[in-house]
Amino acid sequence: MDSTILSYPDRGAGGSAKWRGNHSPRLSEDLFLWLKPSLVFDPMCGSGTTGDVAKRMGIACWQSDLHSGFNILKDDFPGMADLIFCHDPYHDIIRYSGNVWGSAPHPDDLSRCPDYDTFIQRMDVAHYHAYQALRPGGHLVVLVGDVKRKGALYPLQRDYRWYGEPVQMLIKLQHNVWSNGRMYNGMSDPRIMHEYVIVTRKPRQFTSAWMVTVRRSERLSVDQREVAGQTWQGIVWTALVECGNRASLQEIYDHIKDHARVRRAQANGTDWQAIVRRVVQETCTNVGRGMWALPTYQRA
Ligand SMILES: C[S@@+](CC[C@H](N)C(=O)[O-])C[C@H]1O[C@@H](n2cnc3c(N)ncnc32)[C@H](O)[C@@H]1O
Repeated sequence: MDSTILSYPDRGAGGSAKWRGNHSPRLSEDLFLWLKPSLVFDPMCGSGTTGDVAKRMGIACWQSDLHSGFNILKDDFPGMADLIFCHDPYHDIIRYSGNVWGSAPHPDDLSRCPDYDTFIQRMDVAHYHAYQALRPGGHLVVLVGDVKRKGALYPLQRDYRWYGEPVQMLIKLQHNVWSNGRMYNGMSDPRIMHEYVIVTRKPRQFTSAWMVTVRRSERLSVDQREVAGQTWQGIVWTALVECGNRASLQEIYDHIKDHARVRRAQANGTDWQAIVRRVVQETCTNVGRGMWALPTYQRA
């Protein structure tokens, strides 16, 4: 592995190319050559790609899957490994139980979570369990792709919690993309042609083994009326959007009179209405009879 961009146009040998959502054995080879594990676990092994590569390279490996009776959400790992490879379901893009394997849906099948937030919460639990079974100094490798649906991006790699010290984020180019037909939404929407390989490490040295580094992104709904740092221009334009893109000066004043920036201006004795008037006159579009709309950009 000599760069952070991985590309395997020729899949290589191991596992099954027919298993929906299988990974390239070449990725496993590269990871093993780089991280040099003595013992590898793959708890969501699908067609068994990881195990086939490990065997060929003389590396001890335990692999299992819900289809073989191992449930990463509930069951204990059989020991501690140097490298644990998690190739997660892509939310519900491919449903595994009752579809790829088995005759009925399994309640703990991670590809059958009722919604995206539940999927992320359960994947966090799965990764946390995997982290428990890492030796100090061992690596957790998560192979994950994003999902695009009805124009909305579900950035799994960003929404996941990362356990341990970040070591590397690799981009793996996709070649035989099975899911593009379903994920691709309209001609102007770019096809997702890559996945991510997130590599973190359980530290060898620590002040307390109880402490674990967890990275997570936050999704917040921020009420900008409480943001004293919003610009006057931003305040006026947001008020206009709120008013359906047509408002008088008085309506704009009414909409923003409780805004944190207005309250601060009042406390300082600043004539905030004069500022708003200036922003409206300089940036907004007069649509007649004292009514204003959002700016229309005119190239000079
Ligand atoms: C993307 S596939 C892995 C494909 C594999 N890397 C390969 O090359 O064939 C994800 C796998 O996660 C398994 N899975 C889903 N929920 C699980 C759970 N709770 N515990 C263990 N495995 C689970 C599915 O059965 C599926 O085989």
